[in-house]
Amino acid sequence: MLLHVEDLNIEFHDHIVPETVVYDFDLDMDEGEIVGLVGESGSGKSMSALAIAGLLSRHDAKKRGHIIFDGTDILNCPREELRNLQGDDISMIFQEPMTSLDPLKKIGWQVEEAMRIHKKCTAAERKERAIKMLGDVELEDPERVYNSYPHQLSGGMRQRVMIAAAMINTPKLLIADEPTTALDVTVQAQIVKLLKRINKENRTAILFISHDLSLIRQLCKRVLVMKGGYVVDGGDVEEIFTHPKQEYTKRLIDSIPHVDLSGE
Ligand SMILES: Nc1ncnc2c1ncn2[C@@H]1O[C@H](COP(=O)(O)OP(=O)(O)O)[C@@H](O)[C@H]1O
Ligand SMILES: [Mg+2]
Repeated sequence: MLLHVEDLNIEFHDHIVPETVVYDFDLDMDEGEIVGLVGESGSGKSMSALAIAGLLSRHDAKKRGHIIFDGTDILNCPREELRNLQGDDISMIFQEPMTSLDPLKKIGWQVEEAMRIHKKCTAAERKERAIKMLGDVELEDPERVYNSYPHQLSGGMRQRVMIAAAMINTPKLLIADEPTTALDVTVQAQIVKLLKRINKENRTAILFISHDLSLIRQLCKRVLVMKGGYVVDGGDVEEIFTHPKQEYTKRLIDSIPHVDLSGE
């Protein structure tokens, strides 16, 4: 088992009355597995994901439960140990790559970041690896992209750059939080295909978060459905599509334009 999350509860204390935003969240993931996390905006997907990645710092939110990643107790391990995991064994990509990229630094420098932090190697080795990664995410002319600034690339290209940066140390788990939401439909499908290939080639497990169940269906075998902080439905994606147990899941399916329920 790569990831074991049990009874995760996340509470914010920045108002007079504490607010719980995630209740009793359970998730087990095997190495190399792809799991989808779907739900309307505000349902607790990102907070769950950030907690798993060890990115919800102590004073932001109170967390209860267990998150065991590859033998490490994420909620109780020292910061130093978390930092050793982040960008190395666990990576995360987000919806808007422009906010994750520094507009003033060249792409190459940013793709190499996790390598500079975690790996002992020369600048030449880093550059070679970064250019290989940019090619791996199917960017044309990786050498040119390496020497570009973020604003010189399209949104889809920037998301590919983020994937290259996240994958540079071949993590065991990639958390993709709405990575295609800001992109147009054609580019969305390309990114999903790319993630599928990355998963196959590297055996990187992927937690794929989206509010779009049709994208989840293209990528994942298994899905969790969240609403109001709770996991309200889940299981085999095709099963969920053909026999949704919850009214809420049915609504998510119905909100997909022209969905074909026959599974063809
Ligand atoms: N700092 C915070 N204080 C209080 N509530 C927060 C804070 N950050 C997020 N929330 C709330 O947590 C809930 C879940 O948010 P989130 O996980 O980002 O939803 P999703 O990713 O599913 O859209 C939302 O209702 C949001 O308003
Ligand atoms: Mg979110």
